[in-house]
Amino acid sequence: MEERESCCNFKNSFKMRTLSGRPFLGMMERRVWRQIFMTEKKRVVEKDGPLKKGDLIVITGGGGFIGGNLALYFRKKGFTNIRAVDKKPLYEWYLHVPGVQNLCLDVSEADNCRRVCAGAVEVYNLAADMGGMGFIERFRIECLRSILINTHMVEAAYEAGARRYFFSSSACAYNTQLQKDPNVRALKESDAYPAMAERGYGWEKLMSEMFCQEYWHERGMKTFIARFHNVYGPHGTWDGGREKAPAAMCRKIIEAIDKKDLRINIWGNGEQTRSFMYIDDCVKGIDRITHCDDLIATPINLGSSELVSINTLVSKVEKIAGVKMKRSYDLSAPQGVAGRNSDNTFIKKMLGWEPATPLDKGLAITYKWIQGQYEARKAGKRVGIG
Ligand SMILES: NC(=O)c1ccc[n+]([C@@H]2O[C@H](COP(=O)([O-])OP(=O)(O)OC[C@H]3O[C@@H](n4cnc5c(N)ncnc54)[C@H](O)[C@@H]3O)[C@@H](O)[C@H]2O)c1
Repeated sequence: MEERESCCNFKNSFKMRTLSGRPFLGMMERRVWRQIFMTEKKRVVEKDGPLKKGDLIVITGGGGFIGGNLALYFRKKGFTNIRAVDKKPLYEWYLHVPGVQNLCLDVSEADNCRRVCAGAVEVYNLAADMGGMGFIERFRIECLRSILINTHMVEAAYEAGARRYFFSSSACAYNTQLQKDPNVRALKESDAYPAMAERGYGWEKLMSEMFCQEYWHERGMKTFIARFHNVYGPHGTWDGGREKAPAAMCRKIIEAIDKKDLRINIWGNGEQTRSFMYIDDCVKGIDRITHCDDLIATPINLGSSELVSINTLVSKVEKIAGVKMKRSYDLSAPQGVAGRNSDNTFIKKMLGWEPATPLDKGLAITYKWIQGQYEARKAGKRVGIG
């Protein structure tokens, strides 16, 4: 069995946690670091064998967008023992992947988490009460309550002896003070501290990241933390209030064309900027991050670095749809931070890879999928929207 020092992981994760947000600057910080990690320097990272095709993979939030696509991704890779879990009734799941065991259970309850994790070799925790800006600004308590999911899931995975545990964090964990300008500097991993996360949702993610870090430091379970930046693509939420900007823009334009009323209302002044990651990049990134021992307990950006304004996003959807909309702006609507982008220096260094599907390409696929869903719903068929 190959063993090696895991000191660099501790250092990396400590960088995320220094109050100054800078790595190892002051004497004081160095002393604290030594106190915290002196005993742990002896810890080694045991190399586990590659995941076997029949090993149990558990995915929570499996009825949702990313969880469903992740189950599909692993199934296509030939894994035969996948358990997807969601509290939604089965008919509301976005994807039913053949050959995957689907369980309807609420993983904010500890007993259910134990049941879900029994026998798991790897656990991917993607369950959360979440949505686009309209949802997370309006329902902060629901967002905060996802702490129950993450608290019980990480413990149940540990008790079950899972080898690897993945947690889906978010760019909303970053300090909001750094995101006040649409021409924003891309966010690097250390920008989460000093902490001033997005109210509700962001703080919950930050706290749950810490659980993951401590389950490694104190108990030795290999945990992995990706900070997603806006994910979009087929089988995602596209209506109902939880949808994110790309899906919302596609639906609004599809609806406008259908109703022959080419007007669109945009939240904010449309100058706020974001980057959007296509779902295929997201699931690939989750897999790569979770199987990289140098990233244990180390938060890492998983996002596209292609920054666009919401106005540009609308123009792109207009081009795909072949229409020109009359735009109006709702300045009182929720719009989140002024600008946010993903700095991909760290992921490129660690994985030699970054999410790179061009927005134009991913949007065209997503538009077509939403159009299909819209038409199916209009024809009276049951479709998952959120
Ligand atoms: N989509 C994004 O752009 C984005 C960005 C940053 C972070 N994330 C994170 O990625 C994860 C997946 O997001 P998504 O876009 O697939 O969202 P989603 O809403 O489509 O999926 C989440 C699923 O979790 C389920 N769920 C909620 N509470 C549950 C509970 N108590 N027990 C069991 N299931 C429960 C929901 O029913 C839903 O199906 C979440 O943790 C989210 O915070 C997503």
